[in-house]
Amino acid sequence: MTSPLIPSLNGRTAIVTGASRGIGLAIAQTLAAGGANVVLTSRTKENAEEAAKQVEGPGTAVGFQAHATDEDAARACVAFAIERFGSLDILVNNAGTNPAYGPLIDIEKSRFAKTFDTNLWGPILWTSLAVKAWMGEHGGSVVNTASIGGIHVAPNLGVYNASKAALIHVTKQLALELAPKVRVNGVAPAVVRTKLAAALFEREEEVAGSYPLGRIGEPEDVSAAVAFLASDAAAWITGETLVIDGGALLGQAGV
Ligand SMILES: NC(=O)c1ccc[n+]([C@@H]2O[C@H](COP(=O)([O-])OP(=O)(O)OC[C@H]3O[C@@H](n4cnc5c(N)ncnc54)[C@H](OP(=O)(O)O)[C@@H]3O)[C@@H](O)[C@H]2O)c1
Repeated sequence: MTSPLIPSLNGRTAIVTGASRGIGLAIAQTLAAGGANVVLTSRTKENAEEAAKQVEGPGTAVGFQAHATDEDAARACVAFAIERFGSLDILVNNAGTNPAYGPLIDIEKSRFAKTFDTNLWGPILWTSLAVKAWMGEHGGSVVNTASIGGIHVAPNLGVYNASKAALIHVTKQLALELAPKVRVNGVAPAVVRTKLAAALFEREEEVAGSYPLGRIGEPEDVSAAVAFLASDAAAWITGETLVIDGGALLGQAGV
């Protein structure tokens, strides 16, 4: 039986990009717990397949190797999901990267480009492919993983945060362009306990203490919200990015 906290996603098919660990893996687990069949992507076949084994049903989970910016791999993944499970109802653009740390005026072009390629172009590319292959005709729901960094400014994270600010904007743009068939929403977490954010929670007590709810986030704090936005429970919500931050933006959070 589905937990009352997880909306029913029985019979739905989902792709979650960047799902071999962290927030993406938790999203895949929560969607599958709601009954969705899930395709988990990673840059490596091994990681994708290992992650799929960590997903319990009732939905079925399968790993697929696809770099978020590789158009051929993305197209193949979309076709695979439809072929294997018969539809593509949910796309979670979760893969993200942050190779550009430091003051904006010192950032190399290559790191800037890699950040925007993965964090902004990736979601546009995957959404386009999913809509053209399935959702444009049959409907669907897209959820983008942004960040509270896309809403406020913080030292040394200028490029990453700008890419997430642009993703929040693009979420609204796509919601407008794709309505009424396809809903497009996002989530904007503060610091969550994952590999990507490890440097930020080295000072865990300090960071947690700056959040009104007194702790940093866990991947499941984000995945529950993604499942809600992906489901029919959010049928009249589009273009929104839900802040999931333990109240961080209410105060003076430094990260
Ligand atoms: N953790 C936080 O505090 C936090 C806060 C706000 C927003 N976010 C966002 O949440 C999302 C997930 O981050 P996370 O914290 O869960 O990070 P993570 O633990 O480092 O996981 C990142 C995942 O993305 C995959 N990945 C990385 N680059 C990829 C690419 N180019 N193509 C395909 N897959 C790729 C990784 O898999 P492989 O290495 O196996 O390829 C891994 O599964 C990101 O968009 C991030 O910006 C995180």
